[in-house]
Amino acid sequence: MKLGFASSVGVAVALGTALGAAQCPDYTTYSQTPQGDPSSGPLALPYMRPDPACRTFNSSAVEKVISDMTSRLKDPDIARLFENTFPNTLDTTIKYFNETENIAFIITGDITAQWLRDTGNQLPQYYSLLSSDPELAALIKAIINNEARYVSEYPYCSAFQPPPESGLSPTLNDWAIDVIVNPPVNNLTVYECKWELDSLCAFMKLSRSYYQATNDSSFMNDEWHAAIDQILKVIYEQSQATFDEDWNLVSYYNWTGEPGSLPGAVNNGGNGEPKAYTGLVGTSHRPSDDLSTFAFLTPANAMLVIELNYLADILDATGQSPNVSQLARNYSSIIDQAIWEHTLSNGIFAYETNGFGGQYIMDDANVPSLLSLPYLGYLDRNDSTYVATRKVLMSRLNPYYVVGKNFSGIGGPHEDAWNPWPMALVSAIYGTDDDEEILEYLYLIANNTDGLGLIHESINIYDGSYTRPWFAWANSYFAEMLLDLASRKPYLIFSDDTPYYPGQ
Ligand SMILES: *[C@@H]1O[C@H](CO)[C@@H](O)[C@H](O)[C@H]1NC(C)=O
Ligand SMILES: *[C@@H]1O[C@H](CO)[C@@H](O)[C@H](O)[C@H]1NC(C)=O
Ligand SMILES: *[C@@H]1O[C@H](CO)[C@@H](O)[C@H](O)[C@H]1NC(C)=O
Ligand SMILES: *[C@@H]1O[C@H](CO)[C@@H](O)[C@H](O)[C@H]1NC(C)=O
Ligand SMILES: *[C@@H]1O[C@H](CO)[C@@H](O)[C@H](O)[C@H]1NC(C)=O
Ligand SMILES: *[C@@H]1O[C@H](CO)[C@@H](O)[C@H](O)[C@H]1NC(C)=O
Ligand SMILES: *[C@@H]1O[C@H](CO)[C@@H](O)[C@H](O)[C@H]1NC(C)=O
Ligand SMILES: *[C@@H]1O[C@H](CO)[C@@H](O)[C@H](O)[C@H]1NC(C)=O
Ligand SMILES: *[C@@H]1O[C@H](CO)[C@@H](O)[C@H](O)[C@H]1NC(C)=O
Ligand SMILES: *[C@@H]1O[C@H](CO)[C@@H](O)[C@H](O)[C@H]1NC(C)=O
Repeated sequence: MKLGFASSVGVAVALGTALGAAQCPDYTTYSQTPQGDPSSGPLALPYMRPDPACRTFNSSAVEKVISDMTSRLKDPDIARLFENTFPNTLDTTIKYFNETENIAFIITGDITAQWLRDTGNQLPQYYSLLSSDPELAALIKAIINNEARYVSEYPYCSAFQPPPESGLSPTLNDWAIDVIVNPPVNNLTVYECKWELDSLCAFMKLSRSYYQATNDSSFMNDEWHAAIDQILKVIYEQSQATFDEDWNLVSYYNWTGEPGSLPGAVNNGGNGEPKAYTGLVGTSHRPSDDLSTFAFLTPANAMLVIELNYLADILDATGQSPNVSQLARNYSSIIDQAIWEHTLSNGIFAYETNGFGGQYIMDDANVPSLLSLPYLGYLDRNDSTYVATRKVLMSRLNPYYVVGKNFSGIGGPHEDAWNPWPMALVSAIYGTDDDEEILEYLYLIANNTDGLGLIHESINIYDGSYTRPWFAWANSYFAEMLLDLASRKPYLIFSDDTPYYPGQ
């Protein structure tokens, strides 16, 4: 078993580490104070990795990437950021792993629960190492297996409790306590059951990324196939209009608070705003976990188009479930067409639509976002609709774009509108080939870690205060982006122009 940190919930398992759990500091606290020696650049960023004995997973392949990168990055502050962020997920979030059981539980950071979305985003920077590090590959496979169990039982839910094998206690979710959700869920398995389309995309992306990196199809067991069947069923259900031809209410899922609870009641019996049929798939909540304004979230549908095709590819490559593969390709092409037919407004993508002509022009920092469409693989960064959309998003025309003295960018209603998120700047870097723009965004992020050398959720433009000291996804996404630059634009971050490919 791989385990390190003292947990805020009861840890019922023995630790095989030199330091006992009691001596390993809680990383939420640890990450709020500068720890090791500062880097030699002007930002003097501290070393923030936990003590080796407290790390939740060790990988020599990961350590090699860190030394390869830090020895070549020309700015010692950026090198320090890479050193802190690249291993953060393995250092701090692998709460449980047993290779024999093929089960692993991975947390988002400061909350002891596994989000399907966060997990999918916490791991991509390691995929190129899977063929050279079998234990790391076994970890990813065990994560997929654990998620297959979640998704096959609760395909509408977004975040989950520890598996029974782990002996870890479930975490009480204060926010979910007064929520009524249909179909009902067991709170010993489900941490939060918000219907977020991209959570299912994240599970598909994790699965196919593992396959692409290893050619190992052994994760495609009965439970995984059951999860995939559930995903296709939910895609069908959530593409239906709110009312059928006879004005029957079509509601496969609804989520609402009780009177006086927080969050409060959701209108229309927990169904939100009505939607009309377009081919797009609706979602009740956004990737930020906030309620959708309109159900059809363009970027999540774009991610779905891509991931359904990859799903079909891996099924075809392994000769499994031809009927599922065919249906996946069929949905993918219907949704793709619907994106181009129903989400454009004056030549740019709307963030959300409802099929009646309602459109919300904005972007939210969380991936999938409109800004991240090239990162998601939906279109090229020089696609003319993307270029036009991006121009609007990075301007006053986007209600969630703000500019401060030290920090600027795109945020969302999850934190206040004057709190842009570093994550959106990472997406913006993926979305451009302009060197000046890339460096500006890179240094906007680097300059604004509150001297802590980790990537935070959001930063207040008025006073520089930040949210979420320990947010593994943001750290991973930043490191993934630096590795992308290392191969795509090496001269920008290295002192020479030789590209770097980890694991080669
Ligand atoms: C992993 O699980 C198996 C089966 O439950 C168990 O026998 C074994 O002791 C576990 N390994 C560790 C390291 O906990
Ligand atoms: C990682 O390696 C350190 C020694 O460097 C060890 O103390 C620790 O137990 C290892 N962690 C895990 C999860 O195996
Ligand atoms: C599960 O729900 C019950 C009933 O509302 C509540 O008493 C309990 O604390 C909840 N447990 C968790 C882990 O959320
Ligand atoms: C809520 O969803 C359930 C299915 O999970 C459905 O039976 C019920 O009619 C829905 N209720 C409303 C008010 O939409
Ligand atoms: C997977 O198989 C393909 C086709 O045989 C091959 O080109 C590729 O190198 C293999 N990848 C790995 C990681 O083994
Ligand atoms: C595909 O075929 C299998 C076997 O006949 C069946 O169990 C499964 O439900 C089908 N899936 C879909 C999505 O049609
Ligand atoms: C999807 O499948 C349906 C039913 O088989 C078929 O009528 C339709 O043409 C297909 N659409 C696409 C875009 O493949
Ligand atoms: C966009 O970029 C791709 C390669 O990245 C290139 O092949 C294509 O010609 C470019 N298109 C335009 C319109 O510049
Ligand atoms: C980052 O900080 C440095 C030094 O404090 C400053 O020169 C630079 O303009 C800042 N960059 C951005 C993008 O804010
Ligand atoms: C901007 O950065 C400077 C230098 O670190 C700091 O003194 C100032 O308080 C910051 N202002 C805001 C609004 O964050």
